[in-house]
Amino acid sequence: MKSKKFYVTTPIYYPNDIPHIGHAYTTIAADVLSRWNSLKGNDVFFLVGTDEHAKKVYLAAEKKNIAVKKFVDGLAKDFKIAWEKLNIKYDRFIRTTDKGHIVNVLDILGKTYKKGDIYKGVYEGYYCVGCEAYYTEKDLENGCCLIHKTKAELMKEDSYFFKLSKYQKKLLSLYEKNPDFISPKNRKNEIINRVKEGLKDLSISRKDYGWGIKLPFDKSHVAYVWYDALTNYHTATREKGKEKYWPADVHLVGKDILWFHSVIWPAMLLSAGIKLPKKVFAHGWWTFNKEKISKSRGKVINVDELISIAGVDSARYFLFRSTPFGDDGDFSEKALIERYNNELADKLGNLVSRVSTLAEKYGVEKTENKLLKELNLKKIEKLFELYEFDKVLNEIFSFVDICNEHIQNKKPWETKDKKVLYELSDSIKAIAILLWPFIPETSEKIAKQFGFKVGKNTLGELSKPLKVKKIKKGKILFRKIK
Ligand code: MSP
Repeated sequence: MKSKKFYVTTPIYYPNDIPHIGHAYTTIAADVLSRWNSLKGNDVFFLVGTDEHAKKVYLAAEKKNIAVKKFVDGLAKDFKIAWEKLNIKYDRFIRTTDKGHIVNVLDILGKTYKKGDIYKGVYEGYYCVGCEAYYTEKDLENGCCLIHKTKAELMKEDSYFFKLSKYQKKLLSLYEKNPDFISPKNRKNEIINRVKEGLKDLSISRKDYGWGIKLPFDKSHVAYVWYDALTNYHTATREKGKEKYWPADVHLVGKDILWFHSVIWPAMLLSAGIKLPKKVFAHGWWTFNKEKISKSRGKVINVDELISIAGVDSARYFLFRSTPFGDDGDFSEKALIERYNNELADKLGNLVSRVSTLAEKYGVEKTENKLLKELNLKKIEKLFELYEFDKVLNEIFSFVDICNEHIQNKKPWETKDKKVLYELSDSIKAIAILLWPFIPETSEKIAKQFGFKVGKNTLGELSKPLKVKKIKKGKILFRKIK
């Protein structure tokens, strides 16, 4: 059977500083989805990258007195290192300074210009460099942007505009015909209401300030960074052998950048005559001990700090276990350690340790695994489709509880019952396979101990009984933290 393609993207991040928990969150989510699809045997393409032609990137380089290209080269590397540390298995890391990307931006601009959707005017209004977004006075509070709390700059300059207003009706019809195009629902409704209020044409160029992609029809202007950046998702599929992945199956984004992805991006594609992505999912924001994560106030958890609390898998686990993916969540070291101790160490770690120790000692004997009937795979599949990762983990951990109760009731350390140990080992196989998207390193360790495979195309192994092999005790998976 031909496998189904699945193309997932993360936002491409500004390389103006090292990656933090917010960047890690979307990227791990995309890795979870990518691995889940890979488990099912789908043909996955997973894109990450950096958004380099931003004014704030240029200013950050200037502040450090480093040539901007050299500056972004260094930070792009930092992002790659961070993703490697977090066990993110992406297929392509795109940079907006890549040659192929520039060609694609020029192409799309050219098509839109030819269509008559770009005209020259004067932009007069505010611009927040933090958001890299245009604002009107009513969007601001005392002249400050609501997200960054910094003064927006007042601008007046010649600019090229994209006829966004022309696409209002088409966008509304897109949302109506594809009710899942924007998720979750509450955020979708906000977007639809704003689009219904009317769309203003979008300034898509700035006077060349020495950084950015020059417009093909006026070299004294550079493309607006969002126009340039959004195009990356399409660029990656113009590369050899990757054409089959367009349109994207899902763009994962934070709630703050949903407007760009669900309004501006589809309008750009409609204008250029390119197929539209299937879905945009916006997740919530993390606070840190209930306070906004902010660079200026020094409350940033970078990737190394995140990992140092209790390791990579526990960070990956915590981010999806404690908060529904679409909601805001509060991050605290204490909460992470509690979940690590109570769930990963006490529940999963103990189960694996007890069963593998006894199985190594007494062996296992193949039998029908009746315990497996308690695992609701259909429900888990459905929850994955709905991006309800917290509930997926809830289901899997309910099954871990069932297995722990089973071992407690059957007392195989007294009975030496090899069939009970087989049922438990086979159940651990199912648990490890289903947890692979979230905690891949742990799943792979368990698979080694019990002699089965996890990873690409192994979801089907759930319905196949575990092959009887020598089971090994192994090292403690999660050492409790005081
Ligand atoms: N470069 C743009 C994206 C262009 S995509 C075509 C950008 N970059 S960013 O570096 O600012 O990254 C922002 C991403 O990180 C957003 O998805 C945002 O929601 C996410 N987060 C930043 N802080 C966050 C939290 N505190 N919590 C969760 N995610 C947050 O925007």
